[in-house]
Amino acid sequence: MNRAAAIALVWLCACSDAPAPLRLADGRVIDSATLERGRDAYRLYCQSCHGERGDGRGPAAPGQRPPPRDFTQAQFKFGGVAAGELPVDEALLRTVRRGLQGTAMQGWDLPEEDRAAVIQYLKTFSPRWRDEPPGTPIEPDGADPWQGREAEAVAKGRAVYHVMAKDHAGCSSCHPAYLTRAELADLTESVTGVRPTAFARDLHHGRLRDTEYGVKAIAPDFLLQPLKTIGPVTAEYSREAQRRDLYRVIAAGVGGTAMPQWKGALPEENLWALAYYVQSLIDLRGTPAALTWREKLDADDRLAVSAGTP
Ligand code: HEC
Ligand code: HEC
Repeated sequence: MNRAAAIALVWLCACSDAPAPLRLADGRVIDSATLERGRDAYRLYCQSCHGERGDGRGPAAPGQRPPPRDFTQAQFKFGGVAAGELPVDEALLRTVRRGLQGTAMQGWDLPEEDRAAVIQYLKTFSPRWRDEPPGTPIEPDGADPWQGREAEAVAKGRAVYHVMAKDHAGCSSCHPAYLTRAELADLTESVTGVRPTAFARDLHHGRLRDTEYGVKAIAPDFLLQPLKTIGPVTAEYSREAQRRDLYRVIAAGVGGTAMPQWKGALPEENLWALAYYVQSLIDLRGTPAALTWREKLDADDRLAVSAGTP
């Protein structure tokens, strides 16, 4: 080996020991020590699923549904920004801190410095972070306009959720409807003046939709399934905080999936009303009332099938 080659080899080894500083498109430079700390944490806690190269192909990945995120794509579901934009650090930290319920991605109770370092290290896996600044977080315009009027907000949210009309969303084109056909016809007529006569056969079930992650995702049933970013209310996590998180995920949508961004498409007060309505469903999850409700919807499906008018 000649001297130049030896120097090159030493330089390469040094390089793989301490990662080179990372210059991000937003102007920040992440120093080697932070990246090294992040890499150590990544190897310990994340690599088994997300893979040595960050491509989502770690030894524990096969068979996981949904699969671990491939960080070389720099595509995220819960970035809290417009679809396709890079997430801000706060969104990545939130995911690492809390995990995504109902998936293999658990919350990581690490020293804050390790969490902060590991999310910077994730950015070394895709050149996008060097070329593109993160998006602008999608947040409420102001205070919750329904404060102290919860029942009214839930009723408004129920209409926005089920009816397809101006300023309404028709969320039940993917998520389940939580009304019988007769109730849905009444509600739709009260909003649009037109009484619908035909309903989807799978009206009361969440639909499978394509995603950009190579697998399909189901639009969850709020009475039955845990939501990935919404934990249960506790002493530290208030109903208001839970509602705000619901606002956020409804407003921003779920990146790379069929769940669209609703911010801008609906009036602000209707976004909040949806957060109240979905929360009223989540409140019932795991209770006898949720099962009774499900039975009522199933009975409506059987009735429609036997009448030949689903
Ligand atoms: C046991 C497997 C497993 C481990 C270990 C794991 N993850 Fe994940 N992670 C997942 C899965 C599965 C998903 C995808 C969830 C989905 O698509 O809904 C995911 C998604 C993510 C996302 C994407 C969030 C988004 O908005 O799209 C980030 C960021 C992430 N993980 C970071 C980490 C970090 C950092 C660690 C280590 C501290 C880690 N993960 C450890 C399985 C794992
Ligand atoms: C075109 C289909 C579609 C429509 C319309 C739709 N969603 Fe979704 N939604 C989905 C899918 C698919 C997921 C699951 C994404 C995932 O977890 O990968 C989802 C997930 C969610 C979640 C769970 C987020 C989490 O943390 O796990 C909430 C809350 C939600 N949707 C609310 C709504 C509301 C409210 C509306 C109407 C304003 C709506 N959705 C309209 C397809 C849709």
